[in-house]
Formats: sequence, structure tokens, C-alpha cells
Amino acid sequence: MLSGVVAGAVFTSPPPGSILAAIRALTDAGAAAVLLIVKNYTGDRLNFGLALEQAKSESLSIAMVIVSDDCAFTTTSKAGRRGLCGTVLIHKIAGALAEEGRQLEEIVCKVNQASKLIGTLGVCLNPCSVPGSCPTFHLASDEIELGLGIHGEPGIKRTKLTTANEVVKMMIDHMTDPSSQSHLPLSAGNSVVLVVNNLGGLSCLELAIVTGSAIHCLESRHVVVARVVSGTFMTALEMSGVSLTLMVSDDELLRLFDSETRAPAWPATGRTVLTGQTRLIQPSVEETTVVKTFENEASEAVLVRHVLQNVCSSLLALHEELNALDRAAGDGDCGSTHSRAALAIQDWLQTQIIPASYTQLLSALAKVVQEHMGGSSGALYSLFLTAAAQLLRSSSTLVSWADAVHAGTEAIKRYGGAEPGDRTMLDALCPAVKELQKLHSCPSGGEMEVLERAVQQAELGAQSTRELTAQAGRASYIDATRVSQPDPGAVAIAAIFKAILCALRSRP
Ligand SMILES: *[C@@H]1O[C@H](CO)[C@@H](O)[C@H](O)[C@H]1NC(C)=O
Repeated sequence: MLSGVVAGAVFTSPPPGSILAAIRALTDAGAAAVLLIVKNYTGDRLNFGLALEQAKSESLSIAMVIVSDDCAFTTTSKAGRRGLCGTVLIHKIAGALAEEGRQLEEIVCKVNQASKLIGTLGVCLNPCSVPGSCPTFHLASDEIELGLGIHGEPGIKRTKLTTANEVVKMMIDHMTDPSSQSHLPLSAGNSVVLVVNNLGGLSCLELAIVTGSAIHCLESRHVVVARVVSGTFMTALEMSGVSLTLMVSDDELLRLFDSETRAPAWPATGRTVLTGQTRLIQPSVEETTVVKTFENEASEAVLVRHVLQNVCSSLLALHEELNALDRAAGDGDCGSTHSRAALAIQDWLQTQIIPASYTQLLSALAKVVQEHMGGSSGALYSLFLTAAAQLLRSSSTLVSWADAVHAGTEAIKRYGGAEPGDRTMLDALCPAVKELQKLHSCPSGGEMEVLERAVQQAELGAQSTRELTAQAGRASYIDATRVSQPDPGAVAIAAIFKAILCALRSRP
């Protein structure tokens, strides 16, 4: 792909002496000719130009191409279009042509044609710092900057942080806007090679999300995504940001792009066109959920709905508090996990008929929780509901419910490997279960009192976890001296019991 590279100091063009040394090294190694591929920066143009003239005076066969794939500028600015990640595509194409044994003049001509078909735009969430000094510019935590160079120079436009889909759309709109001086002409039906380039500080996950958005955005404009490469090709040190490069391609350019290389950083790309293949389609934002309404819902279903809605809204109200408790003793997502379950149940309530059988109801809720809640909590709640469901097959008296809650709790103990006193949800659940067992012997009319005491026991149990050292679950990894707050899992259980009781008291 490339036979040599000349590095300057950080963000600085190399001096002509270094460039000349590289040219001579290649000629000495038997190169028939040398092509300098230079990004359009003044310093680089000058220093490489100088080296080129000196090499010519030594009658070496040499030429230079200047890459200027920058799509940032809307009006003709004095700075002009810079060379960005599109340069890597020029390396690939020029390298492939040279490998085929083409003449220098032909390579220059083809490369200059390809250059006009390449456009790049970058966006960043955080600037980079030259080693040993401060960041090159400042960006607020909720801002992104569009149209940067690769040397830490700021971009052309700042906006609020938004979703990857929206940022990518904004970028591709800008890159292809015909009213912009530096745009890349791109129309429906064109084929493109897409390069998603990490500017240095993004994770693979973030890069993959941007790649998905970019493919989706291009396809929605009826552009054929012929090839995609996603990775780290041209960075601005540790800048957290990404650039998109598009090369409008024909069969010849794709052939050159596909040609073999042993360059270790070049990704193994599938040589097949992406567009048209079966892939998971991203749901469109406008997608609406179908809401069925029930006019004559049985009164029992009305009660179930009322109870579940109360549980969901209690958990949603606790979102921040549970996260804060979990931050002190775990990974800080207990509130988010419970909110996910609550939102999924709310959604389920809006779209599904309440099953007439409680076994079916709890099984359905187990499925919702299992699919949407995630984490250990999702699995534990799902186990609880699945085990409890079995006890309500033939009877749904309060006593059966007490037995169901008992069976669910036993399932949690069995699979979760925890016992009361281990600082987990069981510390709220077990005292409540014990109280509920009293339903077996309580005189008729005293049931509500038992329920109230069960809720109290759950709350006391949750508060008691302040004094407990974690033996299982999220907090067992944390130094016990740092934990003085109650366990969020136990707090959530107490809140659920309380929400159920309140709903039963205020039954519609
Ligand atoms: C390269 O940059 C200069 C300014 O530094 C500009 O005048 C020129 O138009 C740019 N070249 C291209 C092909 O955009």
C-alpha cells in the first residue's frame, strides 16, 4: 500500500531533509519512481514541494499529489480544503495501481480523478491535547463540534449533543449540500465506499453505532453502500470523535480498493455490496405503538391494572434514589434497571389484554421482565414470578398469594445463592413473606392488617441492610466500611410491597 512514511514532530510538517532521506531510501531500495501523497496543509505543501524539487534535480522520477477531501467549509476560505482521512483511500488506490505496474503519470492522473470523488467530515465530543500541554480548544460536556482538522484545530460549527443518528445525518447533509463550496456531489443511485474513522478516543461500541447510523442514513437516500471500513485510520491523538469519508465509486475504483495488501492496519473487508443484503432494520423514530382500549374490562382486570400501574409509577419515582444508593455500593444502575422493567410493564399494559388467569398474568410479567429489565435483577424477578405463577393455578385466594410469594422467594434464594442477612433484596422479601404466612391462620376480616404488617416488615428489612455487610450480589465486591446506606434492591422490594398495598386500599 505504502512504501514509506515521513513523520514530523507532533502536528508539524516534517523538514525537507527527512523527506528527501525517505525518497532516497526508496530509490536505493529499487523503486522505479516515487509518488508523494501530501495532505493539503501549507507546511506540508512547502516542505514536500522543496524535497520534490531537490529530488528532481538529482534526476529521480518523482511526482506529488495533494489530497484535499475536507468538506467542512461552506464558503471559499483562504485556508482551503484540508487533507483528512480520505488520504488513506488515496494511499490504497495509488498503492494498488503501483502494484499493478502502472506508470507514474497514469497513477497521478487516476489518483487526481479519484481525489475529486472523496469527501470527509469529522465531529468531536472532546478535543485533543498536544502531549504535555492543554486541550487545543474547549468544548462543554453537552456540545459537539463539526468539521475539525486532524491537528487539533477547531471545527466550523458547534451544536448540542444529540443521538448518533441525528449527528450522522447532520454530517452527511453538510458533506453533500450543493450550496456548500466544499461539498461532495452525491446523488441517489451512486455507489460509495464509506470509511468510519476513529479520531482516537472512541470505543469500538461507539464506532459501531456511528457506522450503523451512517449506512442507514446513506441507504435512506438511495445511495448504494458498496464497501464499509470502520476503525482507526487517521487520528488526532486522543480526540474523542469520528470522521466519515465517502468515496463515490465505480467498478474500477472498487477493484483497486479491494486489491490485496499486507499492510497490517488495513481491515479485512468483505468484497460484497452491503446495500440489498438482509440486515436488521433500525426501527424508525416515528413508529407508533398500537394502543387497544378495553371498554368492558372485568373488574378484576381493572384492579390488576391499577396495582401494576401503581408499582410501575413507584419504581419510576425511585429511579434517581435507587441509582444513588447503588452508586455507593455497586454499579449505579439499580434505578435504571427497575425503571426499564416499569416502562416495559407500562407498555405491556397499554398493548395487551390482562390474562384472566393469574398464572398466565405472572408468567407474562416474567417474560416482560426477562426481556427488558436485564442484569441479575431481571433474572431474579423473572425467577420469582415464574415460580410464584405455579402456585396460583387452581386457586387465587389471598392464602394462595402468600404461598406464591413464598415460592417465588425460595426460587430467588435457590438460584441467587443468597440468604437473608447477605444484604440483598431477600432482606426485605423474607420478613414480608414470613408475615404473609400468617394469612393461613388469621381470622376473617384481619387480612388487610396482615398485609399492612408485611409491608412494614419489608420496609424494616430494607432499612436493616444499612447494618449488614454484603455477602452476595452487587455490594459484595465493595469494602464494607464504605457502605452505610440501605441496599437498593431491598429498598425496591419494600417500595413494590407498599405500592401493591396502596393500590389495594384505593381499589377502583
Ligand atoms: C489547498 O489549500 C489551499 C490553501 O491552503 C487552497 O487555496 C487550495 O484551494 C486547496 N486545494 C484544494 C484542491 O482545495
